[in-house]
Amino acid sequence: MLTDFIGQQMQQCAAHAGQQEVNLSRQLYLSLKKAIQNLIVRTGERLPSSRAMAMDLGLARNTVMSALSQLEAEGYLETRQGSGTYVRYKISGHSVGKRPSLKTEYAAEVPQAISGRGGLLLRQAVADEVEVQPFTQGMPDFSPFPLSLWQKLQNKHWRLSYADMLDYNATGGFMPLKRAIAQYLRMHRNMVLEDDQVLVTTGTQQSLNLCATLLADPGDTVWVEDPLYWGAAQTFRASGLQLQGVPTDAQGLNLSQAEQLPDARLVYVTPSHQYPTGGVLALDRRHALLQRCRDMKAWILEDDYDSEFRFSGPPVSSMHGLDVHGRVFYMGTFSKALYPGIKMAYLVVPQPWVHSFKRAHYDLNRPGLIHQQVAMAEFIELGHFHRTIRSARQHYAARRQALLQALAPCLNSQASISGAEQGLHLCVHLPPQIDDVALANWAKTHGLTVRALSRYAVMRHDLRGLVIGYGYAPLPAIRKDGPLLASLIMRALGTRT
Ligand SMILES: Cc1ncc(COP(=O)(O)O)c(C=O)c1O
Repeated sequence: MLTDFIGQQMQQCAAHAGQQEVNLSRQLYLSLKKAIQNLIVRTGERLPSSRAMAMDLGLARNTVMSALSQLEAEGYLETRQGSGTYVRYKISGHSVGKRPSLKTEYAAEVPQAISGRGGLLLRQAVADEVEVQPFTQGMPDFSPFPLSLWQKLQNKHWRLSYADMLDYNATGGFMPLKRAIAQYLRMHRNMVLEDDQVLVTTGTQQSLNLCATLLADPGDTVWVEDPLYWGAAQTFRASGLQLQGVPTDAQGLNLSQAEQLPDARLVYVTPSHQYPTGGVLALDRRHALLQRCRDMKAWILEDDYDSEFRFSGPPVSSMHGLDVHGRVFYMGTFSKALYPGIKMAYLVVPQPWVHSFKRAHYDLNRPGLIHQQVAMAEFIELGHFHRTIRSARQHYAARRQALLQALAPCLNSQASISGAEQGLHLCVHLPPQIDDVALANWAKTHGLTVRALSRYAVMRHDLRGLVIGYGYAPLPAIRKDGPLLASLIMRALGTRT
């Protein structure tokens, strides 16, 4: 009955579209949405599996999955792990279920003729919000970065101006910079690598993109941490990959249920400081993950985005350092260590992949900005990078301390903090009855930019909390606004202030 209805609707949809091309995934999305709105299928009912639906409708399974993901993102459907996809729609037009409608709120209209993956990307886009959020609105502070020194270095190299600096680069980056990065990684991240395994990119997004393009095909599965770093999710969506959330806990990615998951081509992890909750991937789990990836012939994408700033707890090594089978692609960035707009990052690829990645990097990205790479090589070689990190660590430690102090009164059996040992953000966990999206919006009306933890979820419904950045908020602002944020949290919890 459902597939008959959808089949008819899709035909009508194609007929009405006339000249305008509406792809099959969008036709299915519109038809299934109509079936839900017209109560052809009702709240709580299970949909046929994507495989069955694809067979009945004569569509590719990817087409069906893309339409289902879109409806899930809009709150019409919900996937229950190991059980299937269910309708969660109320006549009033509001989605029902335990989790508040998180994504629909931000789902802007997109052009009708957009591709399936483009639609998926834009419906979850955060471009209208800031990604590295200072928890105090409009006040990013980059004072730890030695701007005038950086300017001097750049000016010096502009004056020398070699012809190479003005051209594209086909070698994966300026060699002295690759050497300096490799040396840093050997010393500080316990990594064994050749200089030439380093590729300089314009950011982790570009590193991820290269990996997604060269290591997986559209429709392949990528295991991702749940909750997950938004930027990675968007890159995988845009590459047509299927995101399979794997829950995390205080010890990082929890593989206890992994036997039941579909095999993956890629596994994306932030093992040193899970983003956003901050768990450190335990050693036994690291070994188990490496083994599982060997068994299923998957590649690990290690995003080591903020390991320069560890404030307490034992030092954490990279996963790359444990890998003797060449399965880990390691990503680092200067976005946190220096400043986000610098747009410089690096990707370490296993030796057999070096040549292919260089060629693909050239063909896809036409790398350039060599003049900035020349300045960066000198910045590192002369010890400025170390000095900058050392002094930035002190700045950030003071900000972190001020924030922890401000938040202390709202911590109790219902509210706890994780992830404060490292990096430039921490996470306040709240109980399930709190609508954290509403709380983040409420904070915004007070001039405080924080983000709801539930918005980082891939498949989980149990996450509530706030992700709070402190790296880019000036200390006086944290001292002033931290207590305000704490009082909002307490009021949401119903605690006396
Ligand atoms: C988990 C994670 N990875 C990487 C980055 C940095 O990405 P990029 O190098 O593209 O600036 C961020 C920035 O917020 C992040 O949170």
